[in-house]
Amino acid sequence: MLLKEKNIIITGSGRGIGRSIAIACAKEGANLGLISRTLDELNKVKDEILKLRTGVKVSVKTADVTNYEEIEGAFKAFHEDLGEFNGVIANAGYSRMWNSHEFDSNKFSEIMTINVSGVFFAFKAAYPYLKKNDKNNKSRFIITGSAAFTNPMPKLAAYTASKYAVVGLQNALALEYKKENITFNMVLPTQVDTRMLRGGKAGDGNKPPNVMNPKELNEYYLFLLSDKANKTDNALIFTSDFGEIRNLLSKTPPLKRENWEVFKPYLEENAPKIYSNIRKLGKLVDFIINSIE
Ligand SMILES: NC(=O)c1ccc[n+]([C@@H]2O[C@H](COP(=O)([O-])OP(=O)(O)OC[C@H]3O[C@@H](n4cnc5c(N)ncnc54)[C@H](OP(=O)(O)O)[C@@H]3O)[C@@H](O)[C@H]2O)c1
Repeated sequence: MLLKEKNIIITGSGRGIGRSIAIACAKEGANLGLISRTLDELNKVKDEILKLRTGVKVSVKTADVTNYEEIEGAFKAFHEDLGEFNGVIANAGYSRMWNSHEFDSNKFSEIMTINVSGVFFAFKAAYPYLKKNDKNNKSRFIITGSAAFTNPMPKLAAYTASKYAVVGLQNALALEYKKENITFNMVLPTQVDTRMLRGGKAGDGNKPPNVMNPKELNEYYLFLLSDKANKTDNALIFTSDFGEIRNLLSKTPPLKRENWEVFKPYLEENAPKIYSNIRKLGKLVDFIINSIE
């Protein structure tokens, strides 16, 4: 098991991407602290995990990521229930699409507060409980960003601004906490079949083909939480790049895709742009190659 006895906290884990990561982490042996504002959803995820009978502990707490006292209280309770944290995934997020000149000003602030302050509050509240004394076993702080960073979208100005802002936040935190053995990394998905994107239709089986199933993101988070990513720091993992890597791997002759070292020159020759985007993430490519086989 990849994450046996690791303690992982996930915000926004009542549904969507957070729920999917929580279940994947439990299957790999991690104990979990789950946060959102909706207790019913959290309890459903907890029940699903307990039914797996992997023996992991699951603690659920309702808290609004925009309310520092609530988040502080929830993280304190997770520490009491689980012990020191090995990883935190700041995943809770919110979006609304509308003409910018008509966009409700309070909504703009709400989106920025959930998507930016919420990430900062999660780090600040987790900091006292993050393991900091082992450079061979660093703590992981992972942010769910968005492909809106580098690909801004019309009618999504607030959301786009918030997802640019968290990249700056990550850069600053990664520099500041390197010496304390805490790494910061981000997963930047394109479109995913969740309530945020498809409202009540999420998970109805009719998602457009370009929209990912939340499960397709699990491997990025599992990699970042695993021992294999101990030295991965301040990385931006664009799911679109790795979608193309998967495609290419499926067409690559077996001897040229045995591992990153042999695949690297093949990738550089056949997809130079993707190679240049992901060349520092060879360990993740190896992780994907091993998960395919
Ligand atoms: N879906 C996509 O296409 C897509 C693409 C790129 C990036 N993302 C990012 O993925 C992350 C997860 O979104 P999702 O797609 O899984 O959406 P989702 O299904 O709507 O889930 C969002 C989760 O965040 C929680 N949440 C929202 N506001 C919160 C708050 N103020 N305090 C605490 N929890 C809060 C929600 O629970 P409650 O409402 O019960 O609190 C829910 O558990 C977000 O950061 C989003 O920006 C999504």
